[in-house]
Amino acid sequence: MRHQKVFLTSIALAAAAILGISATSRPDPIYKNLQILPKDISEHDMDSIMLSYTRALGMGCGFCHNPIAGNEDSLDYVTDKNEMKENARRMMRMTIDINTRYFYFNKNTKPVYLNTVHCKTCHRGEAYPAD
Ligand code: HEC
Ligand code: HEC
Repeated sequence: MRHQKVFLTSIALAAAAILGISATSRPDPIYKNLQILPKDISEHDMDSIMLSYTRALGMGCGFCHNPIAGNEDSLDYVTDKNEMKENARRMMRMTIDINTRYFYFNKNTKPVYLNTVHCKTCHRGEAYPAD
């Protein structure tokens, strides 16, 4: 009886150790190729940022993301093969730069989330607002 109790206790301790390890080790990141947005961005924030780009430019997701080869109905968001994605990164850097330099009112907000000046400030539903 006594042996069994010691045995069970050590199982419990081992289980706690395993759970403890898995609770502190980081899960795989959801997103694989972020150079500007925070790597731990939530799905909610990612969705709303990407949606805001489509609205600002009046274009679908496929303007910056290429279809997966052999499956034209879905997009490969990770690859950088579509040059518009890199163009958009340039625009993201510029927008962050404008906000931090001239409109950095809220020091608690990460620069990447500042949006006093946003894509739509210039784009207004046009991909090429200069035309
Ligand atoms: C104007 C261009 C543009 C449009 C339109 C756009 N995206 Fe993106 N998307 C980007 C850029 C740029 C990145 C990479 C950001 C970075 O490097 O931090 C990205 C990254 C992503 C990622 C992360 C991929 C990874 O694992 O690294 C997802 C998911 C994504 N976009 C989904 C979408 C969806 C869904 C839409 C349509 C609602 C969309 N995007 C529309 C430019 C765009
Ligand atoms: C200060 C104004 C301004 C802001 C802010 C801005 N853009 Fe632009 N963007 C432009 C102009 C002007 C053009 C057209 C350039 C041309 O016709 O050569 C453009 C063009 C683009 C293009 C087409 C490719 C290219 O590089 O010419 C993409 C994609 C784009 N912007 C994405 C974005 C995204 C995404 C944001 C927000 C993160 C953004 N832009 C914010 C002014 C702006």
